Amino acid sequence: MPIVDIHTHVYPPSFMDLLRSRTAVPYIRTFPPDTSSRLIILPGEDAPSNPSTSRGRPIGPDYYDISKKIEFMDKHHIDISVISLANPWLDFLPSNEAGPIAERVNNEVNELCNQYPGRLFAFGALPLSASREVIVEEIVRLSEMKYVKGVIMGTSGLGHGLDDLGLDPIYEALQEHRLTIFLHPHYGLPKDVFGPRVSDYGHVLPLALGFPLETTIAVTRMLLSGVWDRFKTLNVLLAHSGGALPFLAGRIESCINHDSHLLNARKSGGQRSIWDILKNNIYLDAVIYSHIGLKSAVDASGSDRVMFGTDHPFFPPLDTHGDSWPSVQMNYRAIQDAFDGNPKAAEDVLGDNAVRILKLSF
Ligand code: URA
Ligand code: ZN
Repeated sequence: MPIVDIHTHVYPPSFMDLLRSRTAVPYIRTFPPDTSSRLIILPGEDAPSNPSTSRGRPIGPDYYDISKKIEFMDKHHIDISVISLANPWLDFLPSNEAGPIAERVNNEVNELCNQYPGRLFAFGALPLSASREVIVEEIVRLSEMKYVKGVIMGTSGLGHGLDDLGLDPIYEALQEHRLTIFLHPHYGLPKDVFGPRVSDYGHVLPLALGFPLETTIAVTRMLLSGVWDRFKTLNVLLAHSGGALPFLAGRIESCINHDSHLLNARKSGGQRSIWDILKNNIYLDAVIYSHIGLKSAVDASGSDRVMFGTDHPFFPPLDTHGDSWPSVQMNYRAIQDAFDGNPKAAEDVLGDNAVRILKLSF
């Protein structure tokens, strides 16, 4: 049985050069007297009031050197990784630059996979600030690339979120070319909800809560706008086990069924239920660090739709001496605990589902 990591990121070398050349978020630079390069991807992370050692995160070869990815895989018994550009992807690029840069980055990622045949596959990135035509052209190109199995996307879409009807040509092209969307958070929640002491708690509030709630809201907006009524075979893989979606699905469904505005608006055609979509269009990763959350994901979508991931190179050990990453061990442990007595389901989540769903041939 192969072990497959479907949630694992990379900034390929040309993207690193781009980040190093920039002075506005996202960018990479040093903050003297500290000499380490820091990756600043979220607005405000570089505020002068933050000590230099807590601005963004240190960025080393784990983020861009593909041989480090293979080393990490070997260390953690991972046979195959489906690599994806890390946030904020290409979202920030000016419209006229997005298309050519997407081509370059996607070619580079496909070429990284080619260096390790059978061990690496990829989710491509879309030039979402470009015109619809350019985005669709890139989708078609990605669908012809040997190692590309889907696209990674944030929650902003064309700038108005994923319930924007302007995205229909994009959803249509992705459905037609059978490319799975890997939906991943980046923007979090408005800073105000975390209060004035947010930075006293490092990155915990935005990462532990902002990220998953962002995903939950984005996917609920897709559902409410009828994306899956119009694109019945569009597949979306949700990061971090769908945020709070598995836990809140019943409440979302109940609110829909008790809303008279929605009832009137929907007279022309029924909206598919959230449970139907969870079991037919949504896949969930297993990056949730506890068997409790994992069981909820499996209850919502089925053990045939949940897939192991690591989020490498994020969440490295704080103690650099450790050989195996605790963040990875926690996700292995969650699978072991959730499927005690059901080894087939554990094997499905660890790799067999990914091979079948993403059609990984090796
Ligand atoms: N932090 C990020 O910015 N991205 C991830 O994927 C994980 C943690
Ligand atoms: Zn991630």
